[in-house]
Amino acid sequence: MIKEKIQDALNEQINAELYSSYLYLSMSAYFESINLKGFASWMRVQTQEELVHAMKFYDYLIERGGKVVLSSIESPPTEWPSPLAIFENAYQHEQKVTGLINELVDLAIAEKDHATNIILQWFVSEQVEEEASADEVVQKIKLMGDARGGIFMLDRELAQRVFTPPTATQ
Ligand code: FEO
Repeated sequence: MIKEKIQDALNEQINAELYSSYLYLSMSAYFESINLKGFASWMRVQTQEELVHAMKFYDYLIERGGKVVLSSIESPPTEWPSPLAIFENAYQHEQKVTGLINELVDLAIAEKDHATNIILQWFVSEQVEEEASADEVVQKIKLMGDARGGIFMLDRELAQRVFTPPTATQ
């Protein structure tokens, strides 16, 4: 049986992952509204990844005999001044999530919950990727500067990203 303190913290993290999914869906909708379909598609893939993160915690909590308690998901922003501002927002958001995961690791260690610590290690590695993929786009947009057509070339590139459903070992 999982300790109540850990259960509460994991339920909060499920909410944080669902918020992430909601945030990226809002970013995707914004990109749709300005006709950047590739950017929108990239964000839609990110939305799906966040749902996978939420469901990993959801399934783990149930497997440990805990109770999943879903709470309200905060409204995400709906407007941004530029594609760069959106990706900077995404990068900052991922840094915040990394902080939340690190706090969960600290809690699992303090509570001597080794199983929770192990599942969190997957998230520790995942966050390295999450931060890197958002920052990569930030850097590309910055490099383009005011180059004409740059944003449309990047739009085509970002359209290539596909969602890969997790396997049993991922
Ligand atoms: Fe679930 Fe993007 O971290």
